[in-house]
Amino acid sequence: MYQEIFKQGKIGNITLKNRLVMSPMGTSLAEMDGSPSEDMIAFYEARAIGGAALIIPEIARVNDLHGAGMMRQLSVSKDRHIEGLAKLAETVHKYGTKIFIQLHHPGRETVTALTGGPVVSASAIPCKYLQQETRALSTEEVKALIQQFISGAVRVKKAGCNGVQREHNKKLNNGLPILHKVPPKRDYGRYFCIMAEKGGTSHGGLTEKLSPFFHAQKQEVNAYGR
Ligand SMILES: Cc1cc2nc3c(=O)[nH]c(=O)nc-3n(C[C@H](O)[C@H](O)[C@H](O)COP(=O)(O)O)c2cc1C
Repeated sequence: MYQEIFKQGKIGNITLKNRLVMSPMGTSLAEMDGSPSEDMIAFYEARAIGGAALIIPEIARVNDLHGAGMMRQLSVSKDRHIEGLAKLAETVHKYGTKIFIQLHHPGRETVTALTGGPVVSASAIPCKYLQQETRALSTEEVKALIQQFISGAVRVKKAGCNGVQREHNKKLNNGLPILHKVPPKRDYGRYFCIMAEKGGTSHGGLTEKLSPFFHAQKQEVNAYGR
């Protein structure tokens, strides 16, 4: 059985040198602006030297106003983040290690102290642990957020990373591992599962609102080029 771990693997059209995948774990080592710090790069370089075929660093935010998930997390919200991500990607690539960036929005589980911004979610139900005043996103805001996920994915690609993963969908083959790959239809709306489901409510039409997302993402990321 253990020999299987060291055989090549494949996710979409990406070949992994073995089956060792480092799952995302928040390190809080990013710079305050969301760029990878030297310490973060050294941390992931050590894992690449250790032999991981694929590293998925921690949650990266796509929205700075209401999308922070933790202190000193990665961000892909601005073009200025491309340079640092490229350095991270180049570093792990030296060891034949691939890297996917996990795109994330915490919904009602953001902490206002981190952003000073509003708490938004699919519905106005507050997180039962954090109990922060929460408002529902409008359809227009959902569309804007979808665009931010798309822009984030494009930046990840420009930085030379190998793919993106959506937070709270741990199955890699459903997790948009390759930027131009559209996940199966049944997966629509998973982006906001944490926002929609944790409050004990239904998606309330959010799935329908989000269904064009993957098509838009496919078109826009492809427009950037492979
Ligand atoms: C400190 C810490 C931070 C984590 N941060 C993230 C994260 O940023 N994104 C994520 O999807 N999972 C995160 N996780 C969950 C891990 O990726 C993993 O799914 C979890 O530890 C269970 O691992 P297992 O399925 O191998 O038991 C984190 C876990 C820990 C312990």
